[in-house]
Amino acid sequence: MQFDLTSLTEHRKPLHPLWFRMTHWINALAVLIMIMSGWRIYNASPLLDFTFPRSITLGGWLGGALQWHFAGMWLFVLNGLLYLIFSLVTGRTSRRLFPVSARGILNDTRLAFTGRLTHSDPGRYNQVQRAAYLFAILDLVILVLSGLVLWKSVQFPLLRDLLGGYEAARWIHFLSMAVIAAFAIIHIAMAVLVPKTLLTMISGRSQPRRPAGHTSS
Ligand code: HEM
Repeated sequence: MQFDLTSLTEHRKPLHPLWFRMTHWINALAVLIMIMSGWRIYNASPLLDFTFPRSITLGGWLGGALQWHFAGMWLFVLNGLLYLIFSLVTGRTSRRLFPVSARGILNDTRLAFTGRLTHSDPGRYNQVQRAAYLFAILDLVILVLSGLVLWKSVQFPLLRDLLGGYEAARWIHFLSMAVIAAFAIIHIAMAVLVPKTLLTMISGRSQPRRPAGHTSS
């Protein structure tokens, strides 16, 4: 494999700062705990005509699952707040996730489907990634807000009314869980398909460039 001088310089430049990698991986763990314990809580009083297999739930029984859910909740919310604060202070996320436009998303989707979406600059997310990440962050915020209504319904009457009442909040919580689970499946598949992004997310360093012609999303 051949490296040019630019790729060697890029190789030394940290692409993802430590705070970003730490909050990302803690978030992944917290989301896993929240989803698996949430499925066990759901099973005790299902909204739909199905329950989740016991083997992929966490907590063993309703009481245990609630304890996992509340413990995971603190990890998830405090870590999420750290991510948002660091992002705002450093401007990193706004630099990487914006600008994003409908035209840009359509254009990059078209390029992805024709195999022409390049990853020549690993320091930049393409428009589809930006939209997906912003959507995931928004979905996580909705999960927290609807979760607050389910947890402390009486203490958050305004939020409860804004979400359409307790029952509606339950549906919103369930549907936003389904959205983040679908996001996670696609997100992990993409990380496996483009392993250099995964390595960068672990080490923080950008990976040496592949020869021209390599495509990914
Ligand atoms: C469900 C839990 C997860 C959520 C909500 C999530 C969310 C995100 C978000 C929002 C970003 C971009 C953030 C930014 O730049 O400010 C990101 C980046 C990334 N995530 Fe995740 N993530 C999750 C789990 C995972 C897992 C399990 C993996 C690995 C298997 C992974 C691999 C990556 C990689 C490699 C990037 C950087 C992509 C790139 O540089 O092209 N994530 N994730």
